[in-house]
Amino acid sequence: MNSDTIEISGNGFRYSALVGHGLMAKAGQLARKVASGNRCAIIGDETSMRLFGDRVRESFSSENFSPRLIRIPAGEKSKSLAQVEKICDEMIAAGLDRSSFVVGLGGGVIGDISGFVAAIFQRGIPHIQIPTTLLAMVDSSIGGKTGVNLDAGKNLIGVFHHPALIIADIEALESLPPQELRQGYAEIIKHAIIRDAEMFQTLSSRAKRPVRLGLEGSRHESLKVTHRNPSTCARGDGLVSLVRRNIAIKARIVSADAREVSGERALLNFGHTVGHAIERATDFKIPHGDCISIGMVAACAISMKRAGLASRERDHVVSLLKKFELPSQLPAGVDREKIAATVVHDKKFIGGKIRFVVTPRIGEAHVSNDVTMEDIREAIAAL
Ligand SMILES: NC(=O)c1ccc[n+]([C@@H]2O[C@H](COP(=O)([O-])OP(=O)(O)OC[C@H]3O[C@@H](n4cnc5c(N)ncnc54)[C@H](O)[C@@H]3O)[C@@H](O)[C@H]2O)c1
Repeated sequence: MNSDTIEISGNGFRYSALVGHGLMAKAGQLARKVASGNRCAIIGDETSMRLFGDRVRESFSSENFSPRLIRIPAGEKSKSLAQVEKICDEMIAAGLDRSSFVVGLGGGVIGDISGFVAAIFQRGIPHIQIPTTLLAMVDSSIGGKTGVNLDAGKNLIGVFHHPALIIADIEALESLPPQELRQGYAEIIKHAIIRDAEMFQTLSSRAKRPVRLGLEGSRHESLKVTHRNPSTCARGDGLVSLVRRNIAIKARIVSADAREVSGERALLNFGHTVGHAIERATDFKIPHGDCISIGMVAACAISMKRAGLASRERDHVVSLLKKFELPSQLPAGVDREKIAATVVHDKKFIGGKIRFVVTPRIGEAHVSNDVTMEDIREAIAAL
């Protein structure tokens, strides 16, 4: 086992994120350091359980834990209160109690619902995250936001409940389809724009070489194939440092502003005001990361107007998104006015202005109070 550790701490919480190869097989041993009780629920979806359930269960059993595997359907629809109730019933039937803990094995959907279950089961028990998508590794597993959806909207019910431990095993990404990898890369590019110009540069130069990047170091010979999609690159050791770097960026931000009070955590919403509106206006038919990608292009246009972003830097952003096969324009036929109307409906405008995250140059971002709905409408029209 070979891993890097990132410490995440703030007001009232402290935990580690481990990143490396082969960590799932050691999950039980790693959990021993943070869990006192013996019974646990390992919650995953059909896919994450099929791929990793046995490996993780064996690891917990070999450390004398009594794991109960709970499998739910894959997909956003599973993030519901009805599913929470079913999981809790199963946990009670399996004899879990206040001394037990929950392990979330899967992508962001599983991280969010398993974290929520951990937060409310018998008034709160520890949660261990084993993220298996790139998005979950670099984004959703960090920061303690847990929750489920209502018919009225996404993530409307939830609590902050920080995990006791995050175990990010890079080997999990070897089975992840390119479409899902791209979702993670959208957030990585966002992190680069708001906080890490050097990573932006590295990603730009890496993506210029379209083949085999990072597959060096993969233990799986079958993966050592020439691949034309840069978003499927970097599955090897390069990916360990990329994931570590992104966890560290998010960790620093949430450590400074865990409950989104000071405005620091709001920077993570770069590209999300327009991105969320695209998602809602198109009935969630476009994947989240793709919407954020288009939303970041709009945020760059607004940043040129309101924060002095150079047009050359906007072009660099567009070109990096394209290299990772992320969209920079709306698909034909999408109603731009509907997207603008959704922004108006979703966001609070005070005196005709909104709090909007802008970037004055790649690597920096701040919340601006100068952005008007007209700026947003103009940027959407240009997409
Ligand atoms: N809590 C937060 O701070 C936060 C932040 C961002 C996003 N989110 C939430 O995260 C969710 C999206 O997460 P996601 O993109 O990981 O989606 P997801 O959990 O739905 O996973 C995507 C798909 O990949 C499959 N999968 C998972 N691991 C796999 C693997 N290793 N190999 C092959 N397939 C695998 C899943 O079964 C699923 O079909 C949304 O619900 C979003 O609201 C939460």
